[in-house]
Amino acid sequence: GKGQFDHFMLKEIHTQPTSLQKTLEGRLDPEAGDIDLDIETDLSDVDSVQLVGCGTSYHAALFGASLLNRCDVPARAIRASEYDLTTGSLTDNTLFIAVTQSGETADTLSALRQVNEEGVETLAVTNVVQSTAAREADEPVYIRAGPEIGVAATKTFSSQAAVLTLLSQHLSDIVDSGVPADNLDRLVSDMAELPDAVEQVLQTSDAKRLAREYLDMNAYFFIGRGLGCSVAKEGALKFKEITYEHAEGFASGELKHGPLALVTDRTPIFAVCTDGSGKTVTNAEEAKTRGAPIVALGPSDHQIMDTADEQLYVPDRHPVCANLLANVQLQLLSYYCATELDREIDKPRNLAKSVTVE
Ligand code: F6R
Repeated sequence: GKGQFDHFMLKEIHTQPTSLQKTLEGRLDPEAGDIDLDIETDLSDVDSVQLVGCGTSYHAALFGASLLNRCDVPARAIRASEYDLTTGSLTDNTLFIAVTQSGETADTLSALRQVNEEGVETLAVTNVVQSTAAREADEPVYIRAGPEIGVAATKTFSSQAAVLTLLSQHLSDIVDSGVPADNLDRLVSDMAELPDAVEQVLQTSDAKRLAREYLDMNAYFFIGRGLGCSVAKEGALKFKEITYEHAEGFASGELKHGPLALVTDRTPIFAVCTDGSGKTVTNAEEAKTRGAPIVALGPSDHQIMDTADEQLYVPDRHPVCANLLANVQLQLLSYYCATELDREIDKPRNLAKSVTVE
């Protein structure tokens, strides 16, 4: 049941310290600074990766592709509904990764089946043991997040991103790109402490107060760069799903190429500032000049704080962890906005937990 929580979604958000612990169990060795994903499939010939999924799982795929690219493993995230062998970059040495919580999403299964026909190696990063994707891929890699009841995916995004992080390090060793995983020691130790850091963010979040402050706006924009861009997109998807308000997420630098025309004092901008780059700060300043309220997600000493009207605190961690923590803040923001608006949190209108038609 929901226990002490009003909704499954809130319960699932608060379960993340435990669900992430299960995701990481036995797969991280902080003492040795090592990662052991225990994959049996022989990946020694892999020279590039395609990650395919829908909705939130697509955003996890984007997160994974960005990480792989950071360690010089060529990787692309592709929306399953757009997947087509003729437009893809599939070769015999491509690893195909289906990212799907349920393992039953028709679009994702369709892409997996097309690729299986080609005989390339396939993995399914999935939550549901023995799901169709788990059975049809060469090997399932389970995210172990436990059952998710809320239609809006929360804890499963965190666990998917965590598994794809481990997988990207595993692959960068195998592909031997010559580019070491960036700051592997810090990554392993911050990942090991991620469950505690999530707990800290849950205990101290200001999202409920902010949700009240920014009710009744015209639109909500979420911006970020790199890993932060996938979190911005995920933040906007969650927001629109459960609040029914207009929300968009995009790369910070895109703001000035069009969306800025929509920016007013009634379009708050949530800026994911989980890297040291000043570019998102500049982009947020451009929006502030047009009157937009700026809510910064980042550590308190980040330069964005000079521009920001409000902050959703994210501790200074390895970018992988900082971005997952920013995402937890955005989950809470969506949840509290939706409760203020009296929406049906666990079963948003028109949506189903698992979409079994193409
Ligand atoms: C968003 C959401 C959907 C799913 C998408 C894919 O909160 O739940 O966007 O992420 O339908 O579902 P799976 O991961 O089961 O393939």
